Amino acid sequence: MLLEASNISIAYGDIQAVREVSFQVEKGELVSIIGANGAGKTSILNSIMGLVPLKRGTILFKGDNITNRPAYKRAGAGIRIVPERARLFPRLTVMENLLTGAYRLRKKIPLEDRIAWLYTLFPILEKRKSQPAATLSGGEQQQLAIARALISDPQLLLVDEVSMGLMPKLVDQVFEQLHRLNQENGLSILLVEQNALASLEISRRAYVLETGVCVYEGNAEEMLSDPKLKQAYLGQ
Ligand SMILES: Nc1ncnc2c1ncn2[C@@H]1O[C@H](COP(=O)(O)OP(=O)(O)O)[C@@H](O)[C@H]1O
Ligand SMILES: [Mg+2]
Repeated sequence: MLLEASNISIAYGDIQAVREVSFQVEKGELVSIIGANGAGKTSILNSIMGLVPLKRGTILFKGDNITNRPAYKRAGAGIRIVPERARLFPRLTVMENLLTGAYRLRKKIPLEDRIAWLYTLFPILEKRKSQPAATLSGGEQQQLAIARALISDPQLLLVDEVSMGLMPKLVDQVFEQLHRLNQENGLSILLVEQNALASLEISRRAYVLETGVCVYEGNAEEMLSDPKLKQAYLGQ
């Protein structure tokens, strides 16, 4: 198992954001955690990255207990996050933003090769490489945030609500890119999303989160084809 979270709870003072949630990601899997605004999705991803502490529970990465490890060590172990709303440096150029992801490289991959590969995945970034990130459209910013995370060749990519604020056509495009990274490059991905349908279409498995509690877990294809499940959890 690549990632194994067991009974994790997260709190901000008296606010209990996540209660006793367990989930796993196998190597090569694309898994989604879907839930409405405030369900606890960002808290969960941040806790995996080491950006918020757990109140209870454990997180194993490749069998190592990383529950109390600082974020930089998790990055060094191969975990990367595409944060909610991309969080780029608006005044830095596209290329400069990309390079901010190139710390703690796991392997000695020549950076030029890595960047060339990213430009084949996201050709628009090459066209825009000298522009400030602030001048990119929402979809382009999300692509840059994904590319910035990929530059270090991560083993697990955490993706926080990449569809937020994008037009449906762009949502499909970005999800298709994630799908291809998973299928063709074998990248393990944990997505958290409000857009349940789009994320289930590219996921193998999914967890449904409601106000900090996991209320369902299952095969994504089954969820999409079962009208009762769709009605209960996907608002369809
Ligand atoms: N820094 C914080 N301080 C206090 N409460 C927070 C903080 N971050 C999130 N919360 C609360 O925790 C709950 C889960 O939030 P979040 O993880 O952001 O959910 P989601 O990403 O699913 O929208 C919400 O009730 C939210 O208001
Ligand atoms: Mg969120």
